[in-house]
Amino acid sequence: MTGEDAVSWGEIARQAAQRLERAGVDNAEREARWLVEEVSGITPGGFDAEADTPATTTAVARLDRLVERRCGGEPLQYVLGHWPFRTLDLMVDSRVLIPRPETEEVVERALAELDALLGGDRRSAVVVDLGTGSGAIALSIACERLAARVVATDVSPDALAVAAANLAGVGMAGHGVTLVEGSWFEAFESTAAVTPGGVDIIVTNPPYVSADDPLPPEVADHEPHGALVPGPVGTEDLVAIIDGARGWLAAGGVLVAECAPTQARDLVEYALAAGYRRAEVGVDLAGRDRMVVAWWAGE
Ligand SMILES: C[S@@+](CC[C@H](N)C(=O)[O-])C[C@H]1O[C@@H](n2cnc3c(N)ncnc32)[C@H](O)[C@@H]1O
Repeated sequence: MTGEDAVSWGEIARQAAQRLERAGVDNAEREARWLVEEVSGITPGGFDAEADTPATTTAVARLDRLVERRCGGEPLQYVLGHWPFRTLDLMVDSRVLIPRPETEEVVERALAELDALLGGDRRSAVVVDLGTGSGAIALSIACERLAARVVATDVSPDALAVAAANLAGVGMAGHGVTLVEGSWFEAFESTAAVTPGGVDIIVTNPPYVSADDPLPPEVADHEPHGALVPGPVGTEDLVAIIDGARGWLAAGGVLVAECAPTQARDLVEYALAAGYRRAEVGVDLAGRDRMVVAWWAGE
């Protein structure tokens, strides 16, 4: 659209918000602005300053397709194709779980444990992220602790393709990151990057939703089932990881695993019974039990 036909981005955003609202999207106005920023090249957060700028035909056509997808119930993050996580802007699509804010706090805890473990020691620590999905945890650690050697695994080749794209996106900060395909600890059979007893930190956000837990349609219909549900109980993968990590952690190494609030206390008990020197529940900023943290003394 040019000249007399030109419609402003402000008007286009109003129309998009009306469509989103009719489709039942909460925060329709805010989402419409984000989608307009995505297609128009307006700087994120810069919508107000550009509201009177004439829209272009190509960008409006692209916006129409994105609004259509959002009205069909697809999560905003997949429609946009990227989403912020800590310092990163990660590519996301239906091959990977959308990184969640609570997982940012799991990274925070893993970094704190890493710093505590190293003290002033400048050696290059080995950190493993099991079930990396988009690479959110592994790449955050790599970017925020440049000396760490980070090994990120996933059983899903599709997820690893997304992680690889995001790894390429972080440039030099990703030079210490290795991606490995395989189920939990079996993945280490194909890499020399990890040795038994050689891992300082194992961090993970595994599937932990029980099979009969109702999920909102936006999650159940669009996010990968294999990233969410490990089995009927919900703790199947967490238990396997607590067990398996013992063979890979160094003496003094730490496991930091995200879980549901209802699972945390039982998992701490399980870790203590499994021989960890110490184990505790980690809480998120809202004070909810969101992780199990367990210290391995060595054999
Ligand atoms: C909850 S998602 C977490 C993704 C990412 N770490 C995050 O926090 O956004 C769980 C991930 O574990 C992976 N996964 C599921 N079963 C696995 C297995 N047996 N071995 C390795 N990864 C597995 C899924 O493919 C998925 O990417």
